[in-house]
Amino acid sequence: MVAKLNTEEEIAKMRVAGKLAASVLDMIGAHVRPGVSTEALDEICHNFIVDELDCTPAPLNYSSTPGQTPFPKSICTSVNHVVCHGIPAAKKILKSGDSLNIDVTVIKDGYHGDTSKMFFVGKPSVLCERLVRITQECLYKGIEAVRAGARLGDIGYAIQTYAERNHFSVVREFCGHGIGRVFHDEPQVVHYGRPNTLITLEEGMSFTIEPMINAGKRHVKILPDRWTVVTKDHKLSAQWEHTLLVTTDGCEVLTRRSDEPFG
Ligand code: MF3
Ligand code: CO
Ligand code: CO
Repeated sequence: MVAKLNTEEEIAKMRVAGKLAASVLDMIGAHVRPGVSTEALDEICHNFIVDELDCTPAPLNYSSTPGQTPFPKSICTSVNHVVCHGIPAAKKILKSGDSLNIDVTVIKDGYHGDTSKMFFVGKPSVLCERLVRITQECLYKGIEAVRAGARLGDIGYAIQTYAERNHFSVVREFCGHGIGRVFHDEPQVVHYGRPNTLITLEEGMSFTIEPMINAGKRHVKILPDRWTVVTKDHKLSAQWEHTLLVTTDGCEVLTRRSDEPFG
């Protein structure tokens, strides 16, 4: 079944969860600087989520399938060629020139808000800055394709054409997802594809769009820790994520931050 919010009450709870998830990304920016470990960032986010927001960090001890090693931390921190699901670690010290994705998912009152953004540590290379910008624009192109009556394939098509026109590649193995009471629900929102294919979007559906875009080839591998996803060619990767609610004429970006344009 596809994640669908049927009542104003459910929608209101998703709005709250989305806003709170976004507030974690707003808060953590000031702490991202050379010399800080990704574990320190995890601890700051964890305490903020639990103590200030009165939420649960969804990644902590999460496993998508029974028997999978649970994720050991409260946020994902993916540095440079790490595509997604990087595990915060004391030995991972950020240095000037690094790029970092912080992915936050909170649960409030039973509902999930899931969002991520890229941060620069010190000054990025020209390539890194361009990859991060184009990836955010890929997310926004995907968001612009969302409205009741559009098809899921329209989203992937918008993202893939824009990424490839800019000579970057789209990761295929990981995708956006339906979200609500369940963290990772149907549908799978892939970030590539053809227009006019896959399911038709309906008012009240809620899902994430979270393109992972690589500077080199699209291929990835998983490290022995069973979580960390890296590019096979060790070239840079970037990702941005929002949680959305489909409306008749577009969508509501439930995890919108104050620095973003759309309403
Ligand atoms: N927040 C990630 C997503 O966008 C999922 C992280 S699952 C974890 O779907 F276990 F790795 F944290
Ligand atoms: Co997600
Ligand atoms: Co996420």
